[in-house]
Amino acid sequence: MQLVADVEGWMSPGQGATLYDAADRCPPDGTIVEIGSFRGRSTIVLATASDPSVAVIAIDPHAGNDRGPQEIDGFADEAADDHAAFNANLAAAGVADRVTHLRTFSDDALTEVDGSVDVLYIDGAHRYAPALADIRAWGDRVGDGGTMLIHDSFSSIGVTLAILRSLVFGSRFRYVGRSRSMTIYVADLDGGLGSRVGNALRQLAQLPWFAKNVALKVLLTLKLGKLLERTGRESPEWPY
Ligand SMILES: C[S@@+](CC[C@H](N)C(=O)[O-])C[C@H]1O[C@@H](n2cnc3c(N)ncnc32)[C@H](O)[C@@H]1O
Repeated sequence: MQLVADVEGWMSPGQGATLYDAADRCPPDGTIVEIGSFRGRSTIVLATASDPSVAVIAIDPHAGNDRGPQEIDGFADEAADDHAAFNANLAAAGVADRVTHLRTFSDDALTEVDGSVDVLYIDGAHRYAPALADIRAWGDRVGDGGTMLIHDSFSSIGVTLAILRSLVFGSRFRYVGRSRSMTIYVADLDGGLGSRVGNALRQLAQLPWFAKNVALKVLLTLKLGKLLERTGRESPEWPY
């Protein structure tokens, strides 16, 4: 995805294309909400792909918590840099005027956004409790037929447990598929038992991939990747 090739972040080119398609399908005068913007990689894709009449709202406190893999707390200085980089990257991409940035936590932002959401992208705090709160509270704001995308699904333990709790056996969001860890859900599941069972099975089928990702993260956390490098093999990248 050339558009954001120079913008730091954890979104693969394929995931960028998936996000682009979702934003492109947002109806005129609709609303896109992003939770977790970091330096603007995904925000720029959402703002570029959507119709100029669409409101693009990016929520990120840039406070130094839940910044990235294994960066849960204490990154205030880095987050101040993220905030400056976010503004600079949006300006360089020519979309600064298209995006409303709410520099606040996602739960506090609920009252700052009016009406229903057409496209919701969740990529904020990946711990279980805040991930569950985002899926539930912001997921409720997605209008019928709207789209919800979740990054680090079946990759992060917190996000995956939140999905198991709220979506796998849910009655509203249909699992469409995923680009690596970016899952796509559409709010059009018919509540019948057959549809719900099929929907649950399609999501549960992702669990072997989740197990592989967890094993990879354990290996990388124990710095076993370095051992591989010493034996002339490439260290695998952090899965996302
Ligand atoms: C993985 S990064 C997002 C990456 C971004 N989507 C991209 O494509 O580069 C996670 C971001 O979530 C933000 N964040 C952490 N807790 C949050 C919360 N409660 N609400 C909104 N954003 C949050 C962090 O400040 C961080 O910038």
